Amino acid sequence: MASIALKLFFFLGLFVCDTWAQYTPDWDSLDKRPLPAWYDESKLGIFIHWGVFSVPSFSSEWFWWDWQGAKLPGVQQFMQDNYRPDFTYADFASMFTAEFYNSDEWANIFNSSGARYIVFVSKHHEGYTNWPSKYSFNWNSMDVGPKRDIVGELAQSIRSKTNIHFGLYHSMFEWFHPLYLNDKSNNFSTQDFVNQKTLPELYEIVNNYKPDVVWSDGDWEAMDDYWKSKDFLAWLYNNSPVKDTVVVNDRWGKNVGCVHGGFYTCGDRFNPGHLVAHKWENAMTIDKYSWGYRRNAKLVDYLTMEELIDTFVKTVSCGGNMLMNVGPRHDGTIDPIYQERLKAMGDWMAVNGDGIYGTRPWKYQNDTINPDVWYTMKQGDSGTLVYAILLNWPTGDMVRLGAPMTTVSTVVTMLGFPEKFSYISTGTAGMIINLSPINPNINPSKYAWVFQLEGLAN
Ligand SMILES: *[C@@H]1O[C@H](CO)[C@@H](O)[C@H](O)[C@H]1NC(C)=O
Ligand SMILES: *[C@@H]1O[C@H](CO)[C@@H](O)[C@H](O)[C@H]1NC(C)=O
Ligand SMILES: *[C@@H]1O[C@H](CO)[C@@H](O)[C@H](O)[C@H]1NC(C)=O
Repeated sequence: MASIALKLFFFLGLFVCDTWAQYTPDWDSLDKRPLPAWYDESKLGIFIHWGVFSVPSFSSEWFWWDWQGAKLPGVQQFMQDNYRPDFTYADFASMFTAEFYNSDEWANIFNSSGARYIVFVSKHHEGYTNWPSKYSFNWNSMDVGPKRDIVGELAQSIRSKTNIHFGLYHSMFEWFHPLYLNDKSNNFSTQDFVNQKTLPELYEIVNNYKPDVVWSDGDWEAMDDYWKSKDFLAWLYNNSPVKDTVVVNDRWGKNVGCVHGGFYTCGDRFNPGHLVAHKWENAMTIDKYSWGYRRNAKLVDYLTMEELIDTFVKTVSCGGNMLMNVGPRHDGTIDPIYQERLKAMGDWMAVNGDGIYGTRPWKYQNDTINPDVWYTMKQGDSGTLVYAILLNWPTGDMVRLGAPMTTVSTVVTMLGFPEKFSYISTGTAGMIINLSPINPNINPSKYAWVFQLEGLAN
C-alpha cells in the first residue's frame, strides 16, 4: 500500500509540475516565467553588430536607411563621391568578404573580456541574414558575400572553446521589405510579413542554433498581436530546445518594452542610476555613435576604460547587466581598439570579479555621502559580504563612506590586495577607511577599486 501511495504521490507531483510549467500566450502567464539564473549572475555580455552595413562602415549600421530612407545629406554625398551612380545597397553584399573571419579567434577575444554571454546580430533591419535562411532568398551569408554560415561557425566556436552563453539578436521588421511595407500600409491588419518572414526566421534560428538569448528588436511600429510574439514566446518557453536556459528581452511589440518580457532594455543605453526591481540590461556601445563599425571613427569617439567601468559598475549596482557592443570590419577583423577595451575589461574583472559576478544590489546602490562609491553584495560562507566600489581614487589617504554600519567584527579588505585595512566608525552609520597600505607600487587596479566589507550590521 505504502509503495502504491508513494507512486501515486510522485505521479501527481510530476503531473502538477508539468502543468504548472505550461505557459499560455498572454503576458500574465509569460511574465511569470522565472529568468534562468545564469543571466543575472553573468553581469557582462558582448553585443556584436555585423552585416552588409559593415561594408560601407560609414555613418552607422542604419546606413541603408540613412542613405535612401532618411536621405541624410552626408550619406548621399558619400555615395556620390565614392560609388558609381547606379550602385545599389544590395551591391555592397558581394563586398562583405569576411576573408579574415575566424570564429575561434573571436571566441578568444570575447572571452578575454570576462563576459559570460554574447549576443550576435543574426539579422539587422537591412534583412540580410548571417545564416543560410530558407526565408531570405539570395539575401543571406551563404548565397552572397562570405558564402559561409556565419552564425553557425560562431555558435560552434563559442560552445567548444569557452563557457560563454551564445545568444542571437534578431530584427523583427525590415526597412524596405515589400511584404512588411504592405502590412504597414494596411495598418498592420494583414500579417503576411510576420507569417512568411519574422516567425519562420525566429523558429529557424532557435531550432538550428539553440541560442540562450533571443534579443528581439525592430518591433516598435506594431503591436505584439501583429508580431505574434506571445505565441512565439509560449513555444520558446514550453517546447523549444532552449526552454530551460533561454532568456529574452522586452522588444516584442510597441506596447511591450519596459513592461513585459524577460529582462527589460527599455531604450538603448538604458542606465537609470537607481534600483530597478525587474531585471534589466544596459545595451550600449564602445563607439559612442554607432553599433556597426565606422572606418572614420576617431579615438575620442570610443569610450575610455574609465567610462566603461563607471557605466558597468553603476549598471550592476542598480540590478542591471551591461551588454557592451563591438562592430567588426567587413573582412572579419576586430579593430585593435575594440580588442584592447575587451581585454582591459577582462583584466579588471580577473581582479575584481568577486564584487561583480553573482552579486545582487545592496540596500544602498550608491553611497549616501561619497559620490564615487557604488555597492553590490552577496552571501559569503561567513555571512553577507558588501562590496564598496570606488570609482575615483581620493586625494588624501582616506575614503569616507556614509552607508555602511560597522560592528566590532567588521573586516575591510580590497580585492586583489593581501592586507587588511584599518578604519574608524563615524557615529551610527559611516566609516573612514585608511588607504595607506596602498601605494603606487602596489595597487591591484587601474580604474576602480573594490573594498570587501565583512561583518557589517544589517
Ligand atoms: C576564458 O576566460 C576566463 C577568465 O574569465 C579564463 O579563466 C579562461 O581560461 C578563458 N578560456 C579560454 C578558452 O581562453
Ligand atoms: C490602426 O490600428 C490601430 C489598432 O491596431 C487602431 O488603434 C488605429 O485606429 C488604426 N488606424 C487607422 C488609421 O485605421
Ligand atoms: C545616490 O544616493 C543619494 C541618496 O543617498 C541620492 O540622493 C542620489 O540621487 C543617488 N544617485 C546618484 C546618481 O548619485
